[in-house]
Formats: sequence, structure tokens, C-alpha cells
Amino acid sequence: MQKLHRRFPDAAITAAFKWMIIASVSAGVAVMHMQSPPVNSLSLEFLTDVCIALEKLEMDKSCRGLVVTSSQPKVFSAGLDILDMYGKSPEHCAEFWKAVQEMWLKFYGSDMITIAAVNGSSPAGGCLLSMTCDYRIMADNPRYSIGLNETKLGIVAPFWFKDTMVNTVGHRTTEMALQLGLLYSPAEALKIGLVDQLVREDQVLTTATETMTKWLAIPDHARQLTKSMMRKPTIDKLTSNREADVNNFVKFITKDSIQKSLGMYLEMLKRRKA
Ligand SMILES: *[C@@H]1O[C@H](CO)[C@@H](O)[C@H](O)[C@H]1NC(C)=O
Ligand SMILES: *[C@@H]1O[C@H](CO)[C@@H](O)[C@H](O)[C@H]1NC(C)=O
Repeated sequence: MQKLHRRFPDAAITAAFKWMIIASVSAGVAVMHMQSPPVNSLSLEFLTDVCIALEKLEMDKSCRGLVVTSSQPKVFSAGLDILDMYGKSPEHCAEFWKAVQEMWLKFYGSDMITIAAVNGSSPAGGCLLSMTCDYRIMADNPRYSIGLNETKLGIVAPFWFKDTMVNTVGHRTTEMALQLGLLYSPAEALKIGLVDQLVREDQVLTTATETMTKWLAIPDHARQLTKSMMRKPTIDKLTSNREADVNNFVKFITKDSIQKSLGMYLEMLKRRKA
């Protein structure tokens, strides 16, 4: 990992991490290009990098906005890395889950304006990541999908995934989406408000930076307090339950039946690739 070797607003790469590049596109705006091949899985290492990057940006008072996007073809992020949950010790699973919590807390509670430039599929944890942002722009390509589909794998999305979705699309839609593990096409996602805007694939990033300009016109102080007012109750709920939530996760994920279905799922992925 390199240090931030240039200050914003230089229009250049400002930091290179193992799994992402942070570039600045204009005054006060950074773009995080996730590059964890092949599908930007949220592994423990990747999450650790993301958290360090976010912390640095948060501390850099000249950086007011962050666009998150993928530099991988066809996918924004495939979500949590199953390899960090399969055949691992309870200690490893706990460490992994703490990192997932940390990522969510940092993004959902960010003082920066955050915009997800969703240029690819965004299932499960990828959908969660995009929902932590203030605004979502998705590529209008019917081959891409977005949604929290973990129940299909026999996994229960924890309460803070659920809360984030309720805050985004409302209770009833979340109730159906989570139980059925629904994935939405971009058009459907726009209709239910899971994304805010669809644009041509090659316009996703430019639209995100244009949108950022609109948000930057609002005085930071008022916008930040408003964001915090909206999100604080949801954040506090996890902050005061982190340990119990980790214990729940570890107890659940290390069950034989869950490990078995994760194993079968990984086999299926291997066959699909072959
Ligand atoms: C997302 O955009 C980046 C940069 O424009 C590009 O390299 C990548 O292939 C795109 N991903 C998708 C899924 O279109
Ligand atoms: C969730 O959706 C993604 C994208 O379609 C897919 O690759 C993944 O296998 C799905 N997960 C489950 C458990 O069905």
C-alpha cells in the first residue's frame, strides 16, 4: 500500500492499494476503482484495504465526494467472499465478519457524498455496498442484476443489511426481496428505487461525476448533519450490537448444514467456470 502521495484536487491517481485505485477526477472528488479480479469479491483482505482507503479519504478534508465503481468487466461486486466463510476457523469467520461490519459502518456513516457507479452486476454484498451510498447510478444493461439474494444460498441477511434495504426501498418491498432472494434487472431496480438512475453503460462514470457536482453545491455542514440524522439510528443499532452480531454470524456460518451448502455452491461455481 502506498501513501496518499498527492493532495486533492490533483486530477490523477492519488493512491494505489492492492485491490483498488483511488483517483481524483476533479476538485474534491475521488473515484474508487475496485479491482479485485475476477468479480470484486469482498474478501477479508479487500475489505481491509477498502476501510483503510476510506479512512484516509475521510481524513482528507479537501475530499468531499467519493464515487465507487468497478474496473472489472460485467460486475460491480459479487458480494462477500465465500472463501472467507467456508472451511475456516470460527476466529477467521469472526475477523471476516468484523471487517464486513466495519466496511458498512464506514460507508453508511461517511461524511463524504458517496455515489455508486454500478457498471455491472451487484448481487448480495455488492448490492449492500451500493445501498450504503447516497446515490446509485446503474448501467442500463438487462444482463446485469442487483439485489440481496443470500436466502437462495440458505443464508440469512443480518438485520443491518435488512435495515439498509428498508431505508432504501421501504418495508414491503424489502420483505419480499429478502425472503425470495430477488435479483432485479436495472429497469426493475429503478422502479422500486433500489437504484436512482439508469444510463448507458459508457455513461455511468461521467453521469456519476456530473451528479456529484449537484450534491457538492449543498453546504457540507447542513448536508452531513442531515445525512447523519437520517442514518444514525440504523448505525447505532449495529454499533451497540457488534459483538452479538459477530457471534450470531459465526454460530450460523460454522453449522455443518450451512458449510455443506456453501461447499456445494462453490462446486457449482467451479463447474460453471469449467
Ligand atoms: C466499469 O468501468 C470501468 C472504467 O470505465 C471499466 O474498465 C469496466 O470494464 C466497467 N465495468 C463494466 C461492468 O462495465
Ligand atoms: C446471487 O446472484 C448472483 C448474480 O446473478 C449469482 O452469481 C449468485 O450465484 C447468486 N447467489 C445465489 C446464492 O444464488
